[in-house]
Amino acid sequence: MQNTIDFINTKTNFFKPEIGIILGSGLGEIADEFCDYAISYNDIPNFIKSTVQGHKGRLVFAKINNKNVIMMQGRNHFYEGHSMQEITYPVKIMKLLGVKTLILTNAAGAVNESYKPADLMIIKDHINNMGTNPLIGLNDNSLGERFPDMTEIYKKQLIQLAEKCANNLGLDIQKGVYWANSGPSYETPAEIKMIRKLGGDAVGMSTVPEAIVANYCKLNVLGISCITNTASSETSGELTHEEVIEAANKAKVKFKSLLLKIIQEL
Ligand code: HPA
Repeated sequence: MQNTIDFINTKTNFFKPEIGIILGSGLGEIADEFCDYAISYNDIPNFIKSTVQGHKGRLVFAKINNKNVIMMQGRNHFYEGHSMQEITYPVKIMKLLGVKTLILTNAAGAVNESYKPADLMIIKDHINNMGTNPLIGLNDNSLGERFPDMTEIYKKQLIQLAEKCANNLGLDIQKGVYWANSGPSYETPAEIKMIRKLGGDAVGMSTVPEAIVANYCKLNVLGISCITNTASSETSGELTHEEVIEAANKAKVKFKSLLLKIIQEL
């Protein structure tokens, strides 16, 4: 890990971020707009190298509303075949660079029947149905405990702050439980019924591994889902990745204004 930290510090001249943001599918635009310096994941020691041409995966450093921010523009997913340890490595790096608050964002399908595409949902808790856990393996005691508490991953104070920011902007906001599946297949109608019965409000294929590791190493976590579709059901027809990206595009103006307001208020 030290070689990653040394590499980044040399490149950024010891930029010290206090806020970390992981930008989900279709939500990376804010990192184009606010970018003082960027490093491709391909160049960073121990980061997952992208094999897809034209795939944007980079760490972006910026001063936004007078706060030092580090953004991951593009994340790696478990369904791509990477290990849980590999996909959560950047969270540990953010912690070691000095980040105190981590904002996790994603595109998710609505399970709660009152949600609509392009709604934003503050994550109040999660359910890990990915079948594994990023903390499996030898524990690094310098980062966190072997059996970390997960009572309040998504900090109440940050949830309240995000709600207040949404209200100030006149944005409707949902608050719910994010359910994570491994993917890459979307859910069947029967699975959506099950998730609804078991307390999930939105479903996606990311965020939970990063949230577990962030809470383990004592980062304050805020989670925001951008609802891109009604998760599969008997009534809502076929679901495509294009539909998900299109709805993320619709929501991204709201999403960006909320994120900027939160950064300002943190
Ligand atoms: N299911 C799982 N992941 C998703 C969905 C969904 O419906 N929409 C966006 N990411």
